[in-house]
Amino acid sequence: MDILTNKGNGILTITFNRPDKKNAITAAMYQTIADTLKSAETDKEVSVALITGRPEIFTAGNDLDDFLKNPPQDTQSPVYQFIQALMHFTKPVIAAVCGPAVGIGTTMLLHCDFVYAADNAQFSMPFAKLGLCPEFASSLLLPQIAGYQRAAEKLMLGEPFSAQDACEMGFVNKVLPVAEVLAFAQAQAAKLVVLPTSSMKATKSLMKGKQIPAVEAKIIEESILFGEMLVSNEAKEAFIAFFEKRKPDFTKFK
Ligand code: COA
Repeated sequence: MDILTNKGNGILTITFNRPDKKNAITAAMYQTIADTLKSAETDKEVSVALITGRPEIFTAGNDLDDFLKNPPQDTQSPVYQFIQALMHFTKPVIAAVCGPAVGIGTTMLLHCDFVYAADNAQFSMPFAKLGLCPEFASSLLLPQIAGYQRAAEKLMLGEPFSAQDACEMGFVNKVLPVAEVLAFAQAQAAKLVVLPTSSMKATKSLMKGKQIPAVEAKIIEESILFGEMLVSNEAKEAFIAFFEKRKPDFTKFK
């Protein structure tokens, strides 16, 4: 199973588990997480959601083969449903990240409440390097969290950066050794489980609620552009180059 789900002691744990493809996320995987979060919303046995991967990899982002063959078309697409379920989840969401968190692997963290990262974590939003543009409100949230210039550097160059950098930017709460991250995140989740759900929901809603219309509007603006760019010659060249294990050549599209 590419996505593992586990429910216990008030914590819903969702684990990326597709190691042979570095946990690259397919449409089916997005759909599973979206459905799991939606049903957890009303599940009284779930107080907190915890999203994690494997010790060596969080996720390589969207499956690039899927991007080529089934580009997400509209608001019914699994990736869109996943991000909607995540951003509208009213209970706390914690992420525990080890290894690379590429593309949506980093973007999704901007929608989480607490993010704990291992010292082997590596974040990247390589959209420009793939002939694409930012997605799922990263062009709004990252400048807000990190400041414009730091966000611009990460979104325009798309280069990987460390857990320490992410912590300084503001979207990682704490950096820990690989062997300790999940246990620490679980312990933080356990602290939340015993607090009143009504207070959790109110606190989250007070912090995030007012901004939701702006986030939704940015997601739509990005999605339209992203959809157009996904079928561009630049993106095709980038995806094919990845699978041919070579550097893309964008010079012919200048
Ligand atoms: N989509 C589909 N397949 C992917 C993938 C992705 N996003 N990322 C990795 N894979 C596959 C590789 O094609 C390879 O498959 P193969 O064994 O059949 O050749 C396998 O996973 C291992 O990947 P590899 O690149 O050899 O692993 P690595 O440890 O050297 O590097 C990453 C790991 C995550 C840094 C690297 O795989 C990577 O950069 N992936 C692409 C990230 C990306 O651009 N994502 C989209 C963002 S929008």
